[in-house]
Amino acid sequence: MKFDQYKKKTYTRYWNNFSEQPKKFINTSLFFKKLKKVLNKFLGFTISVRIKKNKPQKDEAYISYPVEQNIKKHRNTLIIKEICSFLELSNLKYNRSNIEKYLDEFDYVFSQSPIKEHESGFGYNEAVFFYTLLKIINPEIVIESGVMKGFTTYLIDAATDDDCKIYSYDINFENNMFNSKKATYINTDITNKIPPITNKKIVALWDDHTSQMDRLKFSQKHNIQYNFFDDDLSFLNIHSDGWPPIPTISMLKDIKNMKLSSETLSWISRNREGIVYLKDLIEIDCIDQIHFHKVFPQLFPITGYSNHSQCSLVINKIFR
Ligand SMILES: C[S@@+](CC[C@H](N)C(=O)[O-])C[C@H]1O[C@@H](n2cnc3c(N)ncnc32)[C@H](O)[C@@H]1O
Repeated sequence: MKFDQYKKKTYTRYWNNFSEQPKKFINTSLFFKKLKKVLNKFLGFTISVRIKKNKPQKDEAYISYPVEQNIKKHRNTLIIKEICSFLELSNLKYNRSNIEKYLDEFDYVFSQSPIKEHESGFGYNEAVFFYTLLKIINPEIVIESGVMKGFTTYLIDAATDDDCKIYSYDINFENNMFNSKKATYINTDITNKIPPITNKKIVALWDDHTSQMDRLKFSQKHNIQYNFFDDDLSFLNIHSDGWPPIPTISMLKDIKNMKLSSETLSWISRNREGIVYLKDLIEIDCIDQIHFHKVFPQLFPITGYSNHSQCSLVINKIFR
């Protein structure tokens, strides 16, 4: 595994990483500080450069939404149906009237989000499912790998009890805009600093665009029963992602079900060729340790917003 903190990417051995190489991290503000010092020393004056970022665009869900109470109630009834059908084959116990309450709460939580630009993260549809499922699971510990602006940390913070502990990992926190009091922030890959995991009810959200197979094996080794895998794409839709978390859980299932025998498999994404090395994906028994795996449904007909990604819930078999 190699990290590129500057590009916020992790490079793995399972695919050709679009033939890109990690760049050396350049700390731009440190560079400008040093340049200022040198100019001051040798020329006797300083140049000040101010970089102004364009204001990020608000997500569609904050500027277009239903207002009538009866329409919102009907929408929530349909979301409840989707959640119940999603969980049908899982071992999770829930109560419909509680889900109704969670959805009412979610409307308020979403409207108060400190992050309103969701281009490279969860959107409304992933958020409403994730929030409700977290409420149903009611974890004691949540591990999050891939924080970015902090929208998912905000959701975890809002959906969990006050004494829930959150461990948030990222290789670069420069875009983070939300700080949770429940969270410990860790600036490295989880394999470099393993959280103090005890015999508790743990949920993990893997949204770091690195091998989901390695994350699944990690979860099984550390008794993490409930796992959300964002961008869990199959060989059918992998080309839609600019940096997919190869191999995803859906791809491992494809490899088993389709009995793929070639050594490599390629695709084109934004005119770049991706190649996955199937010969390195033989030891995939980890998927036999899964009790439940399902991707979130498309919710556009109900919410009016397109899904931002393909997120899934994986429940491991209990091995304690
Ligand atoms: C898609 S963003 C996360 C979005 C966030 N979960 C949301 O929806 O609001 C992916 C993040 O993963 C981080 N990342 C990349 N490699 C990582 C690694 N090995 N461990 C943890 N985070 C990593 C990137 O720096 C980036 O901030």
